[in-house]
Parts: sequence; C-alpha cells; structure tokens
Amino acid sequence: MTEKWFNANRPRRLRRSKAIRRLVRETRLSPQNLVYPIFVKDSGAKEPIASMPGIYRLPVDQLEAEVVEVKELGIPAVIIFGIPSKKDPYGSGAYADYGIVQKAVSQIKHIEDDLVVMTDVCLCQYTDHGHCGIIGGNEILNDKTLELLAKTAVSHAEAGADLVAPSAMMDHQVAAIRRGLDDSNFQNVAVMGYSAKYASGFYGPFREAAYSNPSFGDRRSYQMDPANSREAMKEIEIDIQEGADIVMVKPALAYLDIIARAYERFDVPIAAYNVSGEYALVKAASMNGWIEEKRVVLEILNSIRRSGAELILTYFAKDVARWLRDDEEV
Ligand code: PBG
Repeated sequence: MTEKWFNANRPRRLRRSKAIRRLVRETRLSPQNLVYPIFVKDSGAKEPIASMPGIYRLPVDQLEAEVVEVKELGIPAVIIFGIPSKKDPYGSGAYADYGIVQKAVSQIKHIEDDLVVMTDVCLCQYTDHGHCGIIGGNEILNDKTLELLAKTAVSHAEAGADLVAPSAMMDHQVAAIRRGLDDSNFQNVAVMGYSAKYASGFYGPFREAAYSNPSFGDRRSYQMDPANSREAMKEIEIDIQEGADIVMVKPALAYLDIIARAYERFDVPIAAYNVSGEYALVKAASMNGWIEEKRVVLEILNSIRRSGAELILTYFAKDVARWLRDDEEV
C-alpha cells in the first residue's frame, strides 16, 4: 500500500457536476434579490441612453409594458427616477403634486399593485444647478434642504410609494423624512437610506441619463470620500438610529469591503447599488467581444450577494432574471 503523503481532502469532489456544485453553493442569486431602476419622463418618445445600452428614458404613458415585464420575470421591486421637463433653484419638481415621479408611482400602483415601488428622494434632477440640495452662496445648505426632502418623500408616499430612498447625503435626511412620513400618517412607508454613498466617478452615465451633472463644483462636500470605510460605518449607524429600515452601500463593486463590513456589523438588510458606470463598463467590453457578458454579470452580482447584500439595485435585473430562468450557471 502506498503511504498517503496527503490528507483526505479533495475539494474537487464537490465540483464534479453542475448538480453537485449547485447543492453546495453558499450564495444564491435570485430575481427576488433584485430591484430594477426605471427612468421616467413626462412625454415624447422612449429614448435610448447612449452610455447605458438597453436602458431608456420612458414616457409615463409607456410604463405599462415595462412594469408587466418586470413582474412576469419575478423581480419584486422597481425604483423610480424622474426626469422633469422643468428645473428651478429649489427643485420644486421633486415635490410637486403632479410631478413626474408622483405620476409614475400612481400609474405603476394602478397597473401592478403588488410590485414594490421605491422612489429616489433627492433634488439633483430637479435643481437648475444640479446639486442635491439648495444653494446659499457657495454652499449646499443642509438643514434647509431637509424640509424639501421630507416634502418630496411625503408626496411620493401620497402617490403610493412603498419605500422612499433618500440619496442626497444631507445629514439627518432619514430623521427628517421619517418624521415627515409619520406626521402625515405614513408610518408604514419604509425608508432605505443611501447611507454610504460615495462621491464616485461611476455615476457618470446616470448623470447623462438624468441630465443631473452639477453646473459648478462637485458633490464631494456631501458624498463620501472613497478612501474611507470607518466613516461608512458611522453613516450607516446614524441612519439606523434615525429609523432607516434598510441601508445601502453605493457604488457596489469598488466597495465590496464596505458591504461586507456593514453586513457583519448591523442587523438590518443591506442593499447595494450596482450603479450606471458599473453597467456601462460591462456593456462596453461585451459589445466589443472582450468579455462574456452573461458570465461576468452573474459573477459580479454573486460577489455583491456574497459580500452580504440582500437587495441589489441593478440595470441588469431583467437580463439576470431571464438568465436565471434559463438555468445559467455562474
Ligand atoms: C441622485 C442619484 C444618483 C444616483 C442615484 N441617485 C446620482 C448622483 O448622486 O449623482 C446614481 C445611480 C447610478 O449611477 O446608477 N442623487
């Protein structure tokens, strides 16, 4: 008998077939984890977004087909981004009774009542200067902006939103919104904080899609410094104290360490936003034939799940739901 010079472990035994691999898989990705972002505008034709192939600015009256498709694919939630036809210094389109998001939300709820409808609560798409809050001198005013964010969230709730997601990175935005909702009897509308939202170059295509590039300066005085991770824990902790039901890390791919740390540390669901620039990178490379899109996307989304995110906001949601239905392996 030959003497064993190794131990009995042979990890390859559990990799022999697709069925075995599936049995022992540690992380599962399902359409149920996904949230599909939708850009909505008032009128006109459905417009493709150049840097986000496959994603469109949809007029409100063409939402139905999209919403029905999302529902049929088993995706439980959408998040709505409005592209208003007018902007002003106070972002009043964000909290207008018949603003674009308000119209879209009530339409969607009318079409598919059990689809979870989330809204992005921010002013940047609605201000003529493109900042996420109102301006005084050269500053983005925190506390004055809070009132407007709360008003926006309440108007979304009135339209039927199930969950509002403040993304302006103003201090105490979750508290202001929670108070606004409760005062208007929307105790059951949930808040998902964009808690650890970094000042990132990965938002480029989104800003093209939503015409929301700041006209002066940048967002570094309110969004987080990409070099920081302890500060992300502080932001998340504050949001949870203020009543956030779900906390988000954004972007996802360059911040998987932040997702993992947040998952270890906090006992609320963690969301991750696989943002527009992450989508654009994969699309550009796959359109050039340099990578296999399906494999790469599944691998990326699995890495986000593996890091600890239960919810993933992704422009790939519909594609992924189709691939998973077709039983594609990671
Ligand atoms: C609004 C907002 C942005 C994104 C989500 N909400 C843009 C920004 O902060 O500049 C980015 C999403 C993406 O890039 O896909 N503040």
